Amino acid sequence: MQATIKSSVECPDVSTYLPLLRTPGGAKDLLIRGSGLQARDSSDEYPLVDGIPVLSPVEHHKVVATDVQEYYDKEAAVYNNTHGSELRGTQYNIEKHYGRLFEKYVRGSGTVLEFGAGTGRFTKVFKPMVRSLIATDFSMPMLLKARGIGVPLVCADTQALPFASNTFDLLVGITTFSYVPNKAKAMAEFRRVLKPNGRLLMLDQNFGGFVMYLVSGYYFQSRKKTRPTEVKESTITNYKRLFQENSFTVDQTEVFSWVPHTVQAVGTKLYGVLDSVFSHVPVLRGQAMRLFITGRVQK
Ligand SMILES: C[S@@+](CC[C@H](N)C(=O)[O-])C[C@H]1O[C@@H](n2cnc3c(N)ncnc32)[C@H](O)[C@@H]1O
Repeated sequence: MQATIKSSVECPDVSTYLPLLRTPGGAKDLLIRGSGLQARDSSDEYPLVDGIPVLSPVEHHKVVATDVQEYYDKEAAVYNNTHGSELRGTQYNIEKHYGRLFEKYVRGSGTVLEFGAGTGRFTKVFKPMVRSLIATDFSMPMLLKARGIGVPLVCADTQALPFASNTFDLLVGITTFSYVPNKAKAMAEFRRVLKPNGRLLMLDQNFGGFVMYLVSGYYFQSRKKTRPTEVKESTITNYKRLFQENSFTVDQTEVFSWVPHTVQAVGTKLYGVLDSVFSHVPVLRGQAMRLFITGRVQK
């Protein structure tokens, strides 16, 4: 069944987007039962936490405690502050780099899922660009910070999406796919929930470039729990392979941005100058910190 997500209210009621929801991995319909959701023809129950359905792939309603999830559960309290500089960096990136790609591939899209949306800083950017938007993340503390954007939020693992097959026109993930341990499993889910010819768009860390490799010692020191090995799989070469193995076309790839997460406002300006210069030097262009890849599913 096709549903239009009504997101005019601050925190959309789950009944308005229930037709899109399924149990994790998409097997069963859900019904509103008491103060939560229940799988049709089953006793499996899933709670609503502050109006957000918790549809994680575990027996009943326990959220899988993975290392990455634990990390972001703690990080949520400070993310929007400690990433203040990153937000400025992101603003720089939106203006200089991402905005052009969002205009080309996001604006005007129909039913859109943003996976790993975190505190919703890009959810805000996408909302006015598309017809309907739903955002997921497996860290409830991160998602709770995204309330108030007026977009339906679902606590879910990217490796077992709780949506019906053939639902979305576009899937968008910003610096989140790199953290997913089983990327092949997630790609199979992307394939399942996308409509035929639907688009997948990911912006992520570029570990194919030397800058991220140089900073990775420092970067992973404070984040030992975020599985450095899997995060380092985040390269254009690996993502292209995953796209091809799952019958996605690869329509465009790019590498950009020399503005690190951690610099403050002045630093953003200085690195911005560096970014403008380096992006014109062919030998350096492919070595920057962020990658972009998009393509369509063939099924
Ligand atoms: C660096 S944050 C990015 C958040 C947001 N996209 C942004 O750009 O601000 C990474 C996010 O991915 C989420 N995440 C990582 N692995 C995930 C998974 N397997 N399923 C769902 N969310 C995941 C984390 O909880 C975290 O909120």
